[in-house]
Amino acid sequence: MTIITTAPIDGQKPGTSGLRKKTRVFMGPHYLENFVQAIFNGIGGAEGKTFVLGGDGRYFNDRAAQVILRMAAANGAARVIVGAGAILSTPAASHLIRARGADGGLILSASHNPGGEDEDFGVKFNSANGGPASEAVTEAIYAQTRGLRTYRISEAQDVDLTGAGERRLGATVVEVVDPVAAYADLMETIFDFAAIRAMFDAGFALRFDAMNAVTGPYAREILEHRLGAARGSVVNAVPLPDFGGMHPDPNPTWARDLVAVLNGAGGPDFGAASDGDGDRNMILGPGVYVSPSDSLAVLAANAHLVPAYAGGLKGVARSMPTSAAVDRVAAALGIECFETPTGWKFFGNLLDAGRVTLCGEESFGTGSDHVREKDGIWAVLMWLNILAARGEGVGAVLAAHWARFGRNYYSRHDFEGLDTGAAEAMLAALRARLPDLAGAEAGGRRIRAADEFSYADPVDGSIASGQGLRILFEDGARIVLRLSGTGTAGATLRLYLERYEGPGGDLGLDPQVALAPIIRAAHELAGIGAHLGRSTPDVIS
Ligand code: G1P
Ligand code: ZN
Repeated sequence: MTIITTAPIDGQKPGTSGLRKKTRVFMGPHYLENFVQAIFNGIGGAEGKTFVLGGDGRYFNDRAAQVILRMAAANGAARVIVGAGAILSTPAASHLIRARGADGGLILSASHNPGGEDEDFGVKFNSANGGPASEAVTEAIYAQTRGLRTYRISEAQDVDLTGAGERRLGATVVEVVDPVAAYADLMETIFDFAAIRAMFDAGFALRFDAMNAVTGPYAREILEHRLGAARGSVVNAVPLPDFGGMHPDPNPTWARDLVAVLNGAGGPDFGAASDGDGDRNMILGPGVYVSPSDSLAVLAANAHLVPAYAGGLKGVARSMPTSAAVDRVAAALGIECFETPTGWKFFGNLLDAGRVTLCGEESFGTGSDHVREKDGIWAVLMWLNILAARGEGVGAVLAAHWARFGRNYYSRHDFEGLDTGAAEAMLAALRARLPDLAGAEAGGRRIRAADEFSYADPVDGSIASGQGLRILFEDGARIVLRLSGTGTAGATLRLYLERYEGPGGDLGLDPQVALAPIIRAAHELAGIGAHLGRSTPDVIS
């Protein structure tokens, strides 16, 4: 074991989901090592502990895993459970932490951000409950990065991570496991595999786009091998270090090939995609795009059709910018509905306390209490199980949902690559005006309230403030603005837009048309053009 002298490195503050930087930054002298040592210090040391380790296979994943193994050994870890090839999807890592009673896990991923030497890399720490480290743990890790003077690392060759089995690094056991098996087994305990298999046997056609990222092996094993979907149903199924140049973000912009297949003649009955590390999902039917907020609501309303949730849901939760569609379902079911800040870490306490069963975010994230991360393949299986149980297609299920609950027209507009100062100045100017907006008119509607969202965790009472600017209209329409906490260069403005149409109303509009007055109001109120010199978003979802 060697003790290396280092110095604090600026900017190692984890964002919405771990520390994300350009890959070359992570590859720089001491960068990864400092952060990993700060994690170990921030959780009270690694001595005698068991960790799970894996990542989404992006460039530098393999070498970073070897560094972390050597550091875990030097810091006295008892055992590190690693996915073969240092591969683990985020939900599979969360499951392994829980199933094996580990003290935590290190996940190597920048999620949906592109991968490669000139793209993005990331490290996140998950706690013993399998979920992203809480705000308090994250703060403790960050505090460590600011005072770090040394780190510990073992002098050793690379550990062989090619196949399952136990190896040793000094006194530390390195246990290499099949990255897919335990996760696939878990899925079998949740869903009615026989019903889904019967649907495939009857000719139901699916296309799952793994976007050359981590879900390929998982989707092949579960959908093709265990459930009998036709061979080749899973496309872009081999995880590549640069994701084959794809931007592995399952939305209509970055998964446009899949959308085209589902919108074309003779396409499959069901389409889905997942992201770099396998926690996101996009659901499509023939000619139908299911917005993630609607997906959460549909899953909540139909969860009783899935074996694991047949006894009912304890409650549901959504992030604040996610549409209120699921709130209506919760009200109909008579269960609690929580509104949390953006980021999966805020669901952890609610899930651990047994207050919620399902949760979701507008950013293509849906999950349940089976793990402590959002879960892309789980969401796909939820939909397949519900379609099999109802004997209906995606379009019919969605139409029936809107006919019963009404429709929350919803869209998110992203403005990327902004000057950080200009974006912050725009929000500061709007923040200053919020107290005066109640009662004013905008976009032909009256503003009921305007504030900056802050959240008091109902379980531990911790407060998270500064979580997005909200302009709430009297008729339930809403504008939300916040800056992304996952980017690696400049700033990204996220503008969230919503309005409700009751069951008797016009339910079939294009959301951009339905939301046009709200979009105009948002641009006027925030002065987006004046501050940012931009009028059109880069990504619309
Ligand atoms: C984005 C999403 C957020 C999600 C996070 C991690 O964060 O908006 O819902 O939890 O990625 O997948 P943001 O960049 O907006 O901070
Ligand atoms: Zn992800």
